[in-house]
Amino acid sequence: MNKRSFLQKFALAGASLWFLPQALFASPTEARASEAEVEPFAFNPQDFTLPALAYATDALEPHFDKMTMEIHHTKHHAAYVKNLNEAVKNTAWAGAGLDKILAEVTAKFPAIRNNAGGHYNHSLFWTLLSPQGGGEPTGKVGEAIKATFGSFQTFQEQFQKEALSRFGSGWVWLIKK
Ligand SMILES: [Fe+2]
Repeated sequence: MNKRSFLQKFALAGASLWFLPQALFASPTEARASEAEVEPFAFNPQDFTLPALAYATDALEPHFDKMTMEIHHTKHHAAYVKNLNEAVKNTAWAGAGLDKILAEVTAKFPAIRNNAGGHYNHSLFWTLLSPQGGGEPTGKVGEAIKATFGSFQTFQEQFQKEALSRFGSGWVWLIKK
């Protein structure tokens, strides 16, 4: 698989790079990094409420300080949830899940699109962080990254470049399709 085909399979689509530590990419053990062991995406896309964090807001220091976590969780994310609930009222998406909304909504509905994206991105992001994280990914994920990008460092550089070229907060995800 060359880099182009990898990017087609692993769409670069999310994470706010300016507060993205290397630990974000990392897994504490080889077992956690292998695809079979990675925890499933654990938030309910039907639920437009602020999900609780699975760790304390100071648990990711020194990579993420407590205030940064609190701002992004209780201010940014909470605002996306509140505004999304307001924005979908009396629309075709009232009662729909995030997956349906994001698959259908267009730029003609910026309040729904932006707040649904903000809620989805933050919800997924929280599940990817761990106080036990750190180091380069290993297992199948690490092998795929190395096979495609040549090295983890090259992947990081490209990932950061993609994120910094995005408008706004630069959410970019590496996704296996
Ligand atoms: Fe945020």
